[in-house]
Amino acid sequence: MAKLAPSILSCDFARLREELLLAKEGGAEIIHIDVMDGHFVPNLTFGPLMVEAVRKILPEVVLDVHLMISNPRSYVRDFARAGADMLSFHVEAVDDFDAVIHEIDKNGLKPGVALCPGTSLDVVDHILPKLAFVLLLTVNPGFGGQKFIRGMEEKIVALRKKLRELGLSTDIEIDGGVNEENIVFLASCGASIIVAGSLIFSHKEGIRERVRKLSEMIRLL
Ligand code: DX5
Ligand code: ZN
Repeated sequence: MAKLAPSILSCDFARLREELLLAKEGGAEIIHIDVMDGHFVPNLTFGPLMVEAVRKILPEVVLDVHLMISNPRSYVRDFARAGADMLSFHVEAVDDFDAVIHEIDKNGLKPGVALCPGTSLDVVDHILPKLAFVLLLTVNPGFGGQKFIRGMEEKIVALRKKLRELGLSTDIEIDGGVNEENIVFLASCGASIIVAGSLIFSHKEGIRERVRKLSEMIRLL
């Protein structure tokens, strides 16, 4: 059963509360929060204060924080205190993956690693059993509203195969360029958490209806 994770990157921040409540009413169980530092990626967004604000608005939703930052280990505790549930960091940003995973575990969050489109799956082979999820970026990190990079479907299939061979039911989260044409196919490739930003928040149909409709499309996969 694949789940949708609306990404607040594309929401109207002047209406944050209203838009988040609409996403919740549409059935969203996970909210994706993109943290960017202007160093690891060429864009700046927000930090723990935003996570804290979202947590206040939605006390029961799973908050999935995607760290696109250098030195993620130093910030794990701050995000835990702010109310995050799932925390992913980029393998391209650190040398010692185990240390960051340990820090995430220690703070009681679900650990995940994120991989840029060009990063090989092999780099995470040795840590797969320690992870709750693997986030595959299907666009280059930094901005919402980009086009899905072709070929990433094969990476999802390959990762699902690898996990199955290891007897792991680890979530595969995909992030970037999801649209109405590819969402069902991506879930059928093995993605179990599907992030969608512009598809939900920049659409005339309305946030509640979008979340409901897209969740329904992938519910049985
Ligand atoms: C990109 C972010 C994504 C972004 C996806 O760096 O990690 O989470 O919000 O946006 P869409 O769904 O618009 O491609
Ligand atoms: Zn993201």
